[in-house]
Amino acid sequence: MTQWVRTCTRDDIDAEGLIRIDHDGRIFAIHRSPDDGFCRTDGLCTQEAVNLADGLVTDHVIECPGHDGQFDCRTGEFKRAQDCGRHQTCPVLVEGEDILIG
Ligand code: FES
Repeated sequence: MTQWVRTCTRDDIDAEGLIRIDHDGRIFAIHRSPDDGFCRTDGLCTQEAVNLADGLVTDHVIECPGHDGQFDCRTGEFKRAQDCGRHQTCPVLVEGEDILIG
């Protein structure tokens, strides 16, 4: 059974925004899509551990500030790879105004 942890509220993330979440010794990034969906991904790039929350977001695509690698935050699939592995992604649970990760 999944344990859900409250991380932030909806208003903490702008539309097409991305924030860093530190939890249990790990770094995540939570993205808010233009259609008000939320998803979670690894917070650090797989290539050089650059903080993805410092990157650019267009629609569902996050661009890493390190070497401009791009990936779809819904699937973790790279759109423009720079010797990067696939990012781990995961849906989030929205409870009222709260955003929870599993
Ligand atoms: S550090 Fe992310 S693409 Fe290189």
